[in-house]
Amino acid sequence: MKNEYILPNKEAARRRTKEESQVKRELFALSSDIKDLGIGKNYFIRTYGCQANFHDSEVIAGILEDMGFKSTDHLEEADVILLNTCAIRQNAEEKVLGELGNLKKLKRANPDLIIAMSGCMAQEEGMVKTILMKYPQVDLVFGTHNIYNLPKLLYQAMLAKEKTIEVFSKEGDIVESLPYKRDNRHKAWVNISYGCDKFCSYCIVPYTRGKERSRHMEDILDEVKELKEAGYKEVTLLGQNVNSYGLDLKMEHGFADLLEEVAKIGIPRVRFMTPYPSNFDDEAIEVCSHYKNIMPTIHLPLQSGSDKILFKMNRRYDSEAYRTVFDKIKAKIEGCAFTTDIIVGFPNESDEDFKKTLEMVDYCKYDNAYTFIYSKREGTPAAAIEDHIPMHVKEERLQILNAKIAHYANLNNQRFQDQIVEVLVDGASKRDKNVFSGYTPESKLVNFTGDCKVGEIRKVQITKAKSFSLDGKVIEE
Ligand code: SAH
Ligand code: SF4
Ligand code: F3S
Repeated sequence: MKNEYILPNKEAARRRTKEESQVKRELFALSSDIKDLGIGKNYFIRTYGCQANFHDSEVIAGILEDMGFKSTDHLEEADVILLNTCAIRQNAEEKVLGELGNLKKLKRANPDLIIAMSGCMAQEEGMVKTILMKYPQVDLVFGTHNIYNLPKLLYQAMLAKEKTIEVFSKEGDIVESLPYKRDNRHKAWVNISYGCDKFCSYCIVPYTRGKERSRHMEDILDEVKELKEAGYKEVTLLGQNVNSYGLDLKMEHGFADLLEEVAKIGIPRVRFMTPYPSNFDDEAIEVCSHYKNIMPTIHLPLQSGSDKILFKMNRRYDSEAYRTVFDKIKAKIEGCAFTTDIIVGFPNESDEDFKKTLEMVDYCKYDNAYTFIYSKREGTPAAAIEDHIPMHVKEERLQILNAKIAHYANLNNQRFQDQIVEVLVDGASKRDKNVFSGYTPESKLVNFTGDCKVGEIRKVQITKAKSFSLDGKVIEE
């Protein structure tokens, strides 16, 4: 009998229920027929998108290794190829579709090859229909809410040789105790919450990641303690909106309390991504300023400097409220570096609106920014707006904005010229084993020479400050 597809549904993805998410803690157990499915076989994962997705890939890799699969860096050697996808902008999707096209010839050469797709594109109703119609080489599609079902789904695709599609539109339980295989031995991502309830009018994430659910504090703290014991030097707490951590668990200052407890564990570097400007409360700022191991880098997404556009974006702050929280953080956290996200060309953004964005950049003098041209996402409210701004105007705006960002990036980096900074060593350059790279507490990329080991925190003297990186040399102690 042919198995039935479980396809995503736009309306169901939009819905929010009052039900509290349950936490599943029982160990992830594999039955004996599934446990050995991967023995002698290789997997290849390519990840697109944000840290949440990269961390999901670490879970997927963990599950596959539990099933006996081994990782490979070569597509040709893989028995399972998985693209863990991102739907945030059209160009992200185009990259994946292009890659799926390229994989067709591998599938032709090896009909037993399994091509799988997961992540945010898999959560889109229209996209899965396109895959079914135009990309027959894809054997398995699963979403962001059912990663724990991967063994069963893979079994079906590999042994029963049936195209398998299982995408749940509604978020389910929080599954603790999934295995993961971390990519890095000294820096780790730690989820604190899943999903997003903000529904910014341009954004697909609330539909692809479901309702906002916080992990329980003790689970997060246990994970950070384990990481510390394993020698990790840095954790980054992850959530689409970290400042609303714990609201669903009826905690009043959830994020501030969590951050403080994480800092107290004493891991050398603590970071978090992404705070939502108007939810950044004084308590959280206080905790950031008090603990030296909470790194002085704040990513504070602006999106636009125009109040009219912010309102249309359904961002829950205006430019004044943004400035207020920015000023508070700047005053409290010494030497804090600021980065941001900005969208240009939101439907009908006028020159005047764009000017307001530039003014805000002049005010905040960001250390760096991720800047994007608005991309229409089917099913979001902004997609229904008729837009009168031509693409070339949007492109020009992006260039003007990027030039301004580069100017301030360079200006901010000059304060590090000849200074001594602490760098967590990420790795050696492939070309020259005496050239290393790593990041300062302010998230400045440093390329440096000297004798050191990956994973160490070392003092580095800066010899040259450039716009987007610093050069330096290790100080022998
Ligand atoms: N939760 C985070 C960001 C997630 S997406 C936050 O609110 O900051 C990362 C960034 O992608 C966003 O900050 C936004 O600047 C950009 N983005 C999201 N949807 C977009 C779209 N439809 N077009 C262009 N950029 C978009
Ligand atoms: Fe998207 Fe807004 Fe949620 Fe960020 S806060 S993920 S931009 S809806
Ligand atoms: Fe992309 Fe999904 Fe992250 S859309 S940015 S991978 S939450």
